[in-house]
Amino acid sequence: MQKSVSIEQPVMDNMQPAKSIMVQSSKDTDFEFTGTVGNIAAANPRMVTRNVDVFYGEKQAIFDVSLDIGTNEVIAMIGPSGCGKSTFIRCLNRMNDTIESCKVSGEIRLDDKSIYRKKQDVVQLRARVGMVFQKPNPFPKSVYDNVAYGVRIHGLASNKMELEEIVVSSLRRAGLWDEVKDRLDAPGTSLSGGQQQRLCIARTIAVNPEVILMDEPCSALDPIATARIEELIDELRENYTIAIVTHSMQQAARVSQRTAYFHLGYLVEVGETSQVFTNPAHKLTEDYITGRFG
Ligand SMILES: Nc1ncnc2c1ncn2[C@@H]1O[C@H](COP(=O)(O)OP(=O)(O)OP(=O)(O)O)[C@@H](O)[C@H]1O
Ligand SMILES: [Mg+2]
Repeated sequence: MQKSVSIEQPVMDNMQPAKSIMVQSSKDTDFEFTGTVGNIAAANPRMVTRNVDVFYGEKQAIFDVSLDIGTNEVIAMIGPSGCGKSTFIRCLNRMNDTIESCKVSGEIRLDDKSIYRKKQDVVQLRARVGMVFQKPNPFPKSVYDNVAYGVRIHGLASNKMELEEIVVSSLRRAGLWDEVKDRLDAPGTSLSGGQQQRLCIARTIAVNPEVILMDEPCSALDPIATARIEELIDELRENYTIAIVTHSMQQAARVSQRTAYFHLGYLVEVGETSQVFTNPAHKLTEDYITGRFG
């Protein structure tokens, strides 16, 4: 990554910087920020973030980010390593609460209610806004119990039969049922990496979330398992809203409808995925997607 970056004017002038964002400059580099290019708003937002700053101790990792996550859309978050993609999506279900030094400010709303309000039940929030991590992390339990776990905790099934129905349908929707139906009692960790990732997706959808956050869900998978997960993301979009962080430009282009480009903690550009990849409005986005840095 370049140490100092000077941003030129956007190459397309019909994309106005979002009005709500103040012009800022970062303290530790001479990177100058003149506002996010593109439309930060979604027609039918499921989550709304405004003026989000995130600090780890003294160090600021996210600067004044405002972005909507639209209902039933897949939004891809891209950008060079360390630009704050994981930090930003972890704000969306308060996963950053688990990091002691991390402080989040600004507004983050789910269906018009602040997720940082005092009365917010964080366990409930994480059921509504589920998360799939880079490395599949099945619990040290059977395949069945991995999926049943959250359903039991949240009391979503009133008897054994209902629980079984939820487990089976979640495994089916995650595209894993045929591969595991004869080994539901086997440890989740005995599955292959791609199967474990689909198991984690089944576990996430079993509690009926509204939003699914995925942080590089395919980075440890081979191309076949990756293709399977990408297909799944496309199917899941019918019922869920998905924010996915990826280092693969091809993946972002294949699975998402909108793309957000982050740079040094700033949201530099957001737009329709086809526009961002074929006609990026910002020079930094263009440099990144054409492989000039990052
Ligand atoms: N737990 C933490 N404590 C302190 N600093 C952190 C922590 N996690 C991330 N950071 C810092 O915040 C910044 C953004 O990191 P983040 O992990 O969000 O980037 P990223 O875009 O997800 O990178 P990558 O593509 O490598 O996953 C980096 O400077 C990083 O060093
Ligand atoms: Mg990351």
